[in-house]
Amino acid sequence: MEELHLGLEGIYFNESKICLVDGVQGKLYYRGYSIEDLAEKSNFEEVCYLLLYGSLPRREELERFKEKMRKRRGLNEKTVELIFEGAGKEHAMSTLRTAFSSISAYENYDDDYERSISIISKISTIVAAIGRAMKKKEYVEPSSELDHAENFLYMLNGTYNKESAKVLDKMMILHAEHSSNASTFASLVSTSTLSDIYSSIVSAISTLKGPLHGGADEAALRMIYEIKSPENAEKYVEEALKDKKKIMGFGHRVYKTYDPRAKVIKSTLLGLLNSGDEEVKNLAAIALEVEKIMVNKLGKSHGIWPNVDFFSGPVYRSMDIPPELFTPIFAMSRSPGWCAHIIEYSANNKLIRPLEKYTGEIGLEYKSIDERG
Ligand code: CMC
Repeated sequence: MEELHLGLEGIYFNESKICLVDGVQGKLYYRGYSIEDLAEKSNFEEVCYLLLYGSLPRREELERFKEKMRKRRGLNEKTVELIFEGAGKEHAMSTLRTAFSSISAYENYDDDYERSISIISKISTIVAAIGRAMKKKEYVEPSSELDHAENFLYMLNGTYNKESAKVLDKMMILHAEHSSNASTFASLVSTSTLSDIYSSIVSAISTLKGPLHGGADEAALRMIYEIKSPENAEKYVEEALKDKKKIMGFGHRVYKTYDPRAKVIKSTLLGLLNSGDEEVKNLAAIALEVEKIMVNKLGKSHGIWPNVDFFSGPVYRSMDIPPELFTPIFAMSRSPGWCAHIIEYSANNKLIRPLEKYTGEIGLEYKSIDERG
């Protein structure tokens, strides 16, 4: 049977206990817990533990886990050099890919759980250092006291406040895992060849970069800037759709209803309408206007609704995070999901090797370069 499944749409390639994306009901569960509950009641470190080990930690387990994360934040000076060499000359995701790739040279852990803790810790240090380098500021060493989100903002800005750290922590929980999305799948293709976890994460970072996947958060905010004011939104959307352009931050391969993560982020965005920062207030207002127009035009009729990437931009801007860092922040948030899948898949490995339906010619006669002229 040679049935073709473009983009592997609708194909199950694996069994997993990590995450359920219910695209019909618009529900998302990590290890059985709803995303709404986790976003409201949990914290990023606890969610990392949940994803990796399969259950919520007891107090003592969480403390030990957090302690390990804090201890593994530091980067080798060569990695820091690579970051400061690349940042500003290329996209921040490219710098992240290169810098992350270098960390395996300085790691010596015995198993993938321990490596995962290190990977999750270090990616955030790399992303913050990229932010520093882009602003032409010096590297800030990680703190050994602060929680993960607090420490990230501290490394990025040299300071942090509890309120922003709480918002970032929630954003990281919402992005931590999403089943067999393109970057996770890419990591598993590498894993399935018995490659190592660092190499598999490089595949994931490379895949997340594209605007149809993680890159959509940056592209969506750039579009919101281009629209300039809520009054321009209708005309902008109509023209874009007429020209067959995609509105970034809308649509999803699995959700044919409102992405539950976008709903949670929207509740934070609504708060930005009262922001003292006029730019942030305007960005939030434009986003809400575009959402209204798109939902009317394409929501119920075409199953195209806001996804996780649409409302993120104004929220990150309210924390003074530059757009180039949005996708790297997505990567550091998704790293526990990648690691959990790599560990799970390795335990029952099968080489991933789909078929391609050949539509070219065969039996052509080879002519030498002289005959071809
Ligand atoms: N704006 C306008 N039209 C759209 C959009 C959109 N954002 N998304 C899908 N469509 C249309 C598309 O033009 C096509 O129309 P037609 O059948 O007339 O040619 C139809 O809907 C099906 O689209 P598709 O791209 O073939 O569907 P897919 O399941 O392959 O794509 C998607 C899913 C996410 C790639 C797509 O919705 C898209 O490109 N969205 C914009 C990029 C984006 O926001 N990506 C983030 C995804 S969620 C987070 C993540 O994974 O990182």
